[in-house]
Amino acid sequence: MISHFMIPARACQTGPVKLLAGRWRPLALAAACSLAGGCSPAAVNCPNDNPACPSPPPTYQADVGPLIAKYCSRCHAADGGMPKVRLQSYDDVTSTDGGQKTHVFTQIKACQMPKADQPQPTAAERTTILSWYACCEANGGTCAR
Ligand code: HEC
Repeated sequence: MISHFMIPARACQTGPVKLLAGRWRPLALAAACSLAGGCSPAAVNCPNDNPACPSPPPTYQADVGPLIAKYCSRCHAADGGMPKVRLQSYDDVTSTDGGQKTHVFTQIKACQMPKADQPQPTAAERTTILSWYACCEANGGTCAR
């Protein structure tokens, strides 16, 4: 027997909701994700916010690195789905080469990454990453290690 808790969790992570077309899709996605808990539907209801640099500021090592590793590095690796954009280290997410630092920030801010059918950071985790970038700007472009 299939537990009804299993269905939304699976729906969130593997994305059969993609098959639902048109106006029901946001509803199905929101329902699936709220039942699963902690998996917010990317791009649907994206807060698109700009959190300020908090005090004390987050650091890469303690706060941001583990989140990048959890939500991004699997695909953004030499042997992942998107090897061209490497997201494995502090240097990768702060690189200004090709504007990568800005791209990473805007992709997370606009809820474009991780992709909608992938596990999503919680609101608090998302704020941690975005506010860390805000601290980079507040610090003349240098991001806290
Ligand atoms: C399931 C694999 C996967 C995960 C997980 C993932 N990405 Fe991506 N990412 C891709 C692919 C594939 C592309 C290529 C563009 C596309 O298909 O949308 C991409 C593109 C990008 C780009 C380039 C977009 C551009 O137009 O410049 C950035 C930046 C990015 N991802 C950041 C992230 C960040 C940050 C995370 C984690 C919060 C993340 N990605 C998680 C697969 C992934």
